[in-house]
Amino acid sequence: MTSKHPDCRGLKRVCLRILLLAAWVCFFSLPKNAWGESGAEAWLRYAPLNEPAAKLYENAPAKIVLRGDSPVLRTAGQELARGLEQMLGRSFGSGSIAQDAFLLGKLSDVRTLDSKLKPPQVLKPDGFWLKTVRIHGAPSVIITAANDRGVLYGAFALLSKIARGESIASLDDLQQPYAAIRWVNQWDNLDGRIERGYGGASIFFEAGKVRSDLTRTGQYARLLASVGINGCTVNNVNAAPEVLDDNFIPQLARIAEALRPWGVQLSISVDLSSPKVIGGLQTFDPLDPLVAEWWRKKIDEIYRRIPDFAGVVIKADSEGRSGPSAYGRTHADAANVVARALKPHGGVVFYRAFVYNHHLDWHNLKNDRAKAAYDNFHPLDGEFDDNAIVQIKNGPIDFQVREPASPLFAGLHRTNEAIELQITQEYTGQQKHLCFLVPMWKEALDFDMRVGDQRTPVKDLVSGRVFHRPLGGFAGVANVGMDANWLGSPLAMANLYGFGRLAWNPNLTSEQIVDEWTRLMFGSDPVVVRTINDLQLRSWRVYENYTGPLGAGTLTNITGNHYDPAPESSENNGWGQWHRADHEGIGMDRTVATGTGFIGQYPPAVQKIYEPLAACPDELLLFFHHVPYSHVLQSGKTVIQHIYDSHYEGAEQAQDFIGEWKNLAGHIDEERYRDILARFEFQAGEAVRWRDTICHWIYQLSGIADQKGRLPKASQTAPLSNSKR
Ligand code: GCU
Repeated sequence: MTSKHPDCRGLKRVCLRILLLAAWVCFFSLPKNAWGESGAEAWLRYAPLNEPAAKLYENAPAKIVLRGDSPVLRTAGQELARGLEQMLGRSFGSGSIAQDAFLLGKLSDVRTLDSKLKPPQVLKPDGFWLKTVRIHGAPSVIITAANDRGVLYGAFALLSKIARGESIASLDDLQQPYAAIRWVNQWDNLDGRIERGYGGASIFFEAGKVRSDLTRTGQYARLLASVGINGCTVNNVNAAPEVLDDNFIPQLARIAEALRPWGVQLSISVDLSSPKVIGGLQTFDPLDPLVAEWWRKKIDEIYRRIPDFAGVVIKADSEGRSGPSAYGRTHADAANVVARALKPHGGVVFYRAFVYNHHLDWHNLKNDRAKAAYDNFHPLDGEFDDNAIVQIKNGPIDFQVREPASPLFAGLHRTNEAIELQITQEYTGQQKHLCFLVPMWKEALDFDMRVGDQRTPVKDLVSGRVFHRPLGGFAGVANVGMDANWLGSPLAMANLYGFGRLAWNPNLTSEQIVDEWTRLMFGSDPVVVRTINDLQLRSWRVYENYTGPLGAGTLTNITGNHYDPAPESSENNGWGQWHRADHEGIGMDRTVATGTGFIGQYPPAVQKIYEPLAACPDELLLFFHHVPYSHVLQSGKTVIQHIYDSHYEGAEQAQDFIGEWKNLAGHIDEERYRDILARFEFQAGEAVRWRDTICHWIYQLSGIADQKGRLPKASQTAPLSNSKR
């Protein structure tokens, strides 16, 4: 019998309908949190609000009205409609009549409706004002700013409030960015690989070209705009000169097009030797007029294709890159030749202060890589053009788990500066370990440098407030990739979010930032919010506990993958990430009195904190001092016992993360629940590996056993007789 038989066909249709109905019923009767989430929308999920939460917005205006027209303003309107519709489950039409509307536009355009509208402060570029008003008797919500990008930021801020259940009934919220420059850097190579990227291949490049499909670039720009980031450097600081090839610039223009609707401006890293390597000149001497001419023409060409090009990032004379030293020129000479080409177009140069000799003689106890940035750049203060910015890593070494703030922040009074923070967790567990970095960044940003014995926190130095610099700000090394969840781990996205929020307002607390993020990512179930906030806020300290204690560095494999425990790799080589551990003691003596003199680079009030052994905070002790293992810390413990205790404690804390996470079963979607659980289980195992490696190593060096007798038998073999300094 064939299915052509009419009765049989009818039966099949009925069966199919029953099946479809059953599937439909199953799907919609599942709790919302059982649906899988890939993390692709990150904090912009706009999850439907439950009834009580949605009730708060039942009197919200019914439509969206744009005053003015521009691609960014249109994006703002579309995003607002998308978010409101998804969260509130009703449609918000567009219209032109200002009553009962969300009104979006620049202040000059919105004011035509009501000339008395006056924000409480003058709006700076990118700042915004959200205000509930009555227009012709009917309530409306105004989202206004000095520029269209500010309106977009205002729309995102309003959506964030709704997603987190804040009332919008009587809004009067004016926000201004702390600094004009809030960029991310991507270390993407043109072949599609990402240096220190842990979330998949490049979203921009593939096989030496810009990808044909740039959908992800637009989605990334949306995420960036939602936290106020206005610039994106798309290629590695170890830049391929080919990025400036004439046939590459039109390809870059396509990336700029994908970023533009979101108000994110394109920037690129350039290699200083480009005039010679791809330009055919005999030289790249920054003071040679032909070189200056080459940069001028090249930059003009970029602006012909990309009129809103933001500028360039330069890494020179660092880790084998070409630089001005080849011609006996200074970093200011190198920055200025490019800055002058950019100036007529309004572009800027970020010149990286990460310049050091990686062939240092480790036998010489006075040598110190930490001194390099200050030694190289402080003498040049005042010599950089006004559209050049010196980009300074938060600490003097290289994104270690704990470093003091770089003294160079206090050492430039007549030069623009920016802080470089690393979102990708190169030395902090590579997204395989949970490490929420906002508390660490806050410590650097809030650190008071006491310049001129005044309160001068790093955030005020980098934003240009202290010395009234025209430019300044924040650069975050993000390194997102093609993985659906961008960074390779859903919880790591708190670092990208947190970077943007801090760049916008460094006065936010870590608690505020993580609380916003958790609610946006996972909803407002109190158990979920409490648990995830707590895990995130503790995670940096836990990672530090089982990896690198007391400021000695991460003790990770610094010559290889920057991930595994390998404390010996720091020593006996020229990279200068030394901890100087031997059989008697540990730590770098960076004092002025007997050490490398690094502490002398800080203003006098800060020197008083770090120079005397008794005053130096425990958590940075080994960064600044070489001490015997028996040295007693302010905590009352000896250094060696602290090292054992912190490693055992850290491994236990990592184990506890698993149990805490398990409390969330059924409270969040299955996909992210399982994914993150597996990560915590992996991390707990890795923490034990770290603990045992470091404890074994330090016992072998010191010969001093753990007072609590916890060392595994294998570690209790005879200690090494000695180890050279
Ligand atoms: C670190 C990192 C490198 C990077 C460098 C930089 O050393 O390991 O991959 O190129 O920083 O910031 O320039």
